[in-house]
Amino acid sequence: MNKYLFCFVLSAVLACGRAGPFKTLLYSDLITCDHDKTLDLGVSETQIFFYDFQNNFNLSFPIDSAAEGITTRYNLDVTRKLVFFVPGYKSHISKNTEDLFRQAFSTLPNIYLIIVDHSAYTSSRGGKIASYERSVKFAYYIGQALGKFLADLHKNGYPSNKIHCIGHSLGSQILGFAGTAYHDITGEKVWRVTGLDPAGPCFSNSLIDNQIRSGVGQYVEVYHCNAGGLGTTAVLADIDFFFNKKGHKQPSCHEGIIPAKGESDAAKCSHKACVRYYTMSVHLQNGYLAWACDTYEHYSGGKCAANEVTIAGYNNPGNATGVFYVSTELYGIE
Ligand SMILES: *[C@@H]1O[C@H](CO)[C@@H](O)[C@H](O)[C@H]1NC(C)=O
Ligand SMILES: *[C@@H]1O[C@H](CO)[C@@H](O)[C@H](O)[C@H]1NC(C)=O
Repeated sequence: MNKYLFCFVLSAVLACGRAGPFKTLLYSDLITCDHDKTLDLGVSETQIFFYDFQNNFNLSFPIDSAAEGITTRYNLDVTRKLVFFVPGYKSHISKNTEDLFRQAFSTLPNIYLIIVDHSAYTSSRGGKIASYERSVKFAYYIGQALGKFLADLHKNGYPSNKIHCIGHSLGSQILGFAGTAYHDITGEKVWRVTGLDPAGPCFSNSLIDNQIRSGVGQYVEVYHCNAGGLGTTAVLADIDFFFNKKGHKQPSCHEGIIPAKGESDAAKCSHKACVRYYTMSVHLQNGYLAWACDTYEHYSGGKCAANEVTIAGYNNPGNATGVFYVSTELYGIE
């Protein structure tokens, strides 16, 4: 019996790790986390999808021709904000997460949306361990290519302070590399980098320069929804928001009756909840109120009610720093 099966069978009886077998597997020594930056891996099958909803127009290009394609085929209005979304492991352009982004931004004026599809390198092909290992290994190279793409847009006149990069899970970690590459090429930083539950496995225990962190954009914000599960526990950014229960468990994510499967499903559900909360916040004028606090216990016990308050979500004014706690239930959002 292999170790994974053993863990699965055992966990059905004893509960094998807090977030179920997949998480246990991803943190186990069965997985090799390779952050080698000398491999020069090609990522030319990465696709860029560009949307101008206001003009009911979209384009897509392979990454190497995307900056030239967009700027020559289209008269970009550089006063508009560019929202640049990088999804996570096992995602692709027709998944629900990408749809949530298209829906949220399709009615917002004065923006362009770009969605990256890196599924050629980050799909589940080859099985759970091999495919996650491959995705981790490619993260740096995808990030480099995205940083170069954004730098090429900048070279064609797009201002750094109009570029807002948003990543989910592995996509957040990829943005750490992309933001660094952008800075290396242009000498400037993108306006904002948003990490939605940055991937934990292979990253949270890694060197800091393999992680999304303060400094990779002018202002970096991280949202925690499954901290210690599929998301990182590390406090990394200019501001770190912990949502609902310790930034670990979200109210609508239940464990069901089969312990291992239930925990694993609940972890995935919490991990994705950050996308739902963030895309919903696009149309919440005053966002979610967030309180500065040292611990979740103090926050939930009301001890931080008189502390600094800021806004979590798309309308974060970007002038607060530190650790903040949010309860979406105050807004009837689970
Ligand atoms: C992209 O544009 C084409 C028409 O050129 C349209 O058929 C398609 O629905 C658009 N896709 C999205 C996601 O808006
Ligand atoms: C942060 O910016 C917002 C919006 O511009 C402003 O209302 C708020 O007073 C600022 N907060 C601080 C602490 O400067």
